[in-house]
Amino acid sequence: MGTYMSALEQRSTGIGLLGLGVVGTAVAKAIIERHGPNDQSTRLNVVAAVVRDDSRKRYVDLDTSAISTNLDTVIGNPDIAIVVELMGGEDLAFDYITSALKSGQHVVTANKEVMAKRGSELLATATANNVHLYYEASVAGGIPIIGPLMNDLTANKIQSVRGIINGTTNFILTKMEHEGADFSDVLAEAQSLGYAESDPTADVDGFDALYKISVLARLAYHTEVPVDVIYCEGIREVHAKDFRYASELGYTIKLLAVAQVNSKSGLLARVHPALIPLEVPMASVNGVLNSVEVEGDLVGPLWFQGAGAGPNPTGSAVMGDILRIANGASNSGSSPSTLEPFPIASMDDHVCQYYIRLTASDRPGVLANVARFLGEADISINSVLQKDTDIENGHADLVIMTHPAREANMQSAVSSIRELETVLQLDSLIRVETYGDRS
Ligand code: NDP
Ligand code: HSE
Repeated sequence: MGTYMSALEQRSTGIGLLGLGVVGTAVAKAIIERHGPNDQSTRLNVVAAVVRDDSRKRYVDLDTSAISTNLDTVIGNPDIAIVVELMGGEDLAFDYITSALKSGQHVVTANKEVMAKRGSELLATATANNVHLYYEASVAGGIPIIGPLMNDLTANKIQSVRGIINGTTNFILTKMEHEGADFSDVLAEAQSLGYAESDPTADVDGFDALYKISVLARLAYHTEVPVDVIYCEGIREVHAKDFRYASELGYTIKLLAVAQVNSKSGLLARVHPALIPLEVPMASVNGVLNSVEVEGDLVGPLWFQGAGAGPNPTGSAVMGDILRIANGASNSGSSPSTLEPFPIASMDDHVCQYYIRLTASDRPGVLANVARFLGEADISINSVLQKDTDIENGHADLVIMTHPAREANMQSAVSSIRELETVLQLDSLIRVETYGDRS
């Protein structure tokens, strides 16, 4: 009996948590409830958890003595084989992950910011110390996307990775579109459901999606795609009216993150709201769902969909990485083999259709002036809607859909249009995403 017990104990893997918030709590619960002393296959044990404020009430069945602000209880603790970083942020997370890897501990993280900005360095430290650094939960919550890009799709030349990879903004946009909900109310709801980042401007202003597309692009193209070369625009300028007009034109609006190779200009990575045709599958990805399309030269198009945020879906991805290590993953599987320089394209050269909404004086000649500036920038108009005419004030909404145009030309036309005396405000400029022959 004694021998049997000690064999079981040997199979128990010590886990140390850095962070016991939304995701950390879900992970601790999953370990305790599913991989506790009675689990005969993969027995895990939460040895210690480090938090910022150890006086806060915790919603998990962990001995209070295991929760502290003392980093030494986790990093370098010989009883802890796997450190799970669920704090977020860049500098401290980088330092803690580095220290753990150098102490010979494996690391699992859900931190897209640190993996985007310092991932290559961390992965090199993992390799140098012969330990694993896994980060499946850092992109698209519960959807397995890093594993497939790192393992199953390596034979492919990837043409594009395109997705809805921020759950909070998709939740907000969906509620604005379907329920006419107010932006700040829905953001508060997303926060209470545990979807948003601790500073939700990272979601709303597109940075969270930017970090994630940087991580995916590094894996897909075996190159460093620094965050400062990625075009980034969030959802603050999208208004309820835009959903109404987009729908009349056959579109909805989503925050897209795209990394795409063009044989002439190179790799372009961009995050921005986009009109997408109602008939493409991504148009129906609503609420906290995320989806990622990957196009490889051998496999063709692939489509991944699932919950992109929230405690349990994210916990599922974190637990997958923990169990892989605890069960003895043999290859490092952490990083693309070698990173090569790749030409990075400029957003200025991006070509797409544009949706423009402006508030103009309802007077003869207004449209002609706008059309003149577009024409001078070599942009032709596909269609025009005049809406919501306010007779009393003499204003109207003018909604213009252009033919495909170069970004730099559009920006130059827009700055001239803004100067027109008859244009009271240029309210929205939203790119239309190109899908096959549709747009
Ligand atoms: P929370 O804000 O809920 O939790 C953060 C935890 O880290 C808290 O327990 C906090 O302590 C602790 N912490 C923060 N700073 C420190 C510090 N300096 N020292 C010690 N502990 C610290 O965040 P989430 O759980 O939502 O997110 C964690 C990570 O997971 C982030 O990287 C996030 O981007 C990522 N992620 C989140 C998803 C989600 O749906 N929420 C989905 C996918 C990834 P205390 O509790 O005392 O404040
Ligand atoms: N705040 C992130 C989101 C969490 O809303 O997608 C998942 O990474």
